[in-house]
Amino acid sequence: MRTPFVAGNWKMNLLADTAKALAVKVKEKLDGVSGVEVAVCPPFVFLKDVVEAVRGSRIQVGGQNVYTKDSGAFTGEVSAPMLKSVGCTLVIIGHSERRHILGETDAFINEKMKAALKAGLKPILCVGELLAERDAGKTEEVVRRQVVEGLKGLTAADMATVTIAYEPVWAIGTGRTATPQQAQEVHAIIRGLIRQQFGAAVADGLRIQYGGSVKADNAKALMSQPDVDGALVGGASLEVRSFADIIKNSI
Ligand code: PGA
Repeated sequence: MRTPFVAGNWKMNLLADTAKALAVKVKEKLDGVSGVEVAVCPPFVFLKDVVEAVRGSRIQVGGQNVYTKDSGAFTGEVSAPMLKSVGCTLVIIGHSERRHILGETDAFINEKMKAALKAGLKPILCVGELLAERDAGKTEEVVRRQVVEGLKGLTAADMATVTIAYEPVWAIGTGRTATPQQAQEVHAIIRGLIRQQFGAAVADGLRIQYGGSVKADNAKALMSQPDVDGALVGGASLEVRSFADIIKNSI
């Protein structure tokens, strides 16, 4: 049985005071909830405050991005050892906004996965097709490429700490969620790929989150699918009540 894993991706939202206040509320409301792993991923500048606010609780804190190198002349970038040093345990990699707005490639994302793993951070690898790709019948091809290229060179041992998030781009921030069946179909494809590449034990243990307009009222139907093991939540994670309701509906 896989423990569900729900992570809040705060994206580029909130300010120092509101980020801290949200973290305090997440801790108060969710520390006692069992049977699910919970994480929040604030913008870099709020990480230390958020780590401080949830200290001593079960809430994990992660970055939304990471650079491929550990240190050096890379102005504006943040490395995996840096994230680790402020108390992060995980990091989101390859989010569709980074792929499509900031031009990240599968090869670059693969380097980031390796950098995160080397530093002992648990990566959440995001994959998902654009609407045009779905309409052209290319969903499987796109997701397959993103999974295979993103995980290139990783070992079965590495995979024990990896989570994959399937986030169809057309469902992110649009209010248009994939149906539970659409999500399940792609999640099953991803698990099948992992089985081929890394074996049954890794595939059976892998958590595959769904992301894209997850809300309290659609979470239960999505999470009840056999291959949906949690959620990566954007908009609804900015308000403690909706985030908490999603988490309760995921257990
Ligand atoms: P959304 O974002 O829940 O606001 O659609 C999800 C994500 O991009 O991780």
